[in-house]
Amino acid sequence: MTIDNVKIIELPKFTDPRGNLSFVEQLNHIPFEIKRTYWIYDVPGGEDRGGHAFKENQEVVIALSGAFDVIVDDGENKKIFNLNRSYYGLYIPNGLWRTMENFSTNSLALEFGSIHYDMNDYIRDYEDFLKQKRNGEI
Ligand code: TYD
Repeated sequence: MTIDNVKIIELPKFTDPRGNLSFVEQLNHIPFEIKRTYWIYDVPGGEDRGGHAFKENQEVVIALSGAFDVIVDDGENKKIFNLNRSYYGLYIPNGLWRTMENFSTNSLALEFGSIHYDMNDYIRDYEDFLKQKRNGEI
């Protein structure tokens, strides 16, 4: 898996003077069956989240409100995605290191996952990640 497999997904958007509406459907806009949804909020200024890789879990991240950066890293290359619209999803396949930074005040990150929470699916040590990547384990 490389950072070229990370994709921005443009979601449906119904603009309306009463307020806009967007939505997602699993196996349609979200390229996997959604097993889990979580959100990150009340992030104090300057804090980072999510410095880890997943062995199996795939994700779609949406900046429902505000803005933040998602940095993806395949061990050789890195790419920064600035999410700042609630109608863009960022698809992150498994096997990539990803960090979330530069959260704006009151930003809200919504994340869909392809597996239930499993602490054993996490790689939290960057050197370990590089080793597993080199050995073709992830
Ligand atoms: P974690 O994914 O480690 O967040 P980050 O990588 O941004 O620091 O999640 C923080 C804690 O929340 C972790 O100890 C376990 C718990 N958690 C769940 O119980 N279920 C979940 O679906 C998620 C994402 C986290």
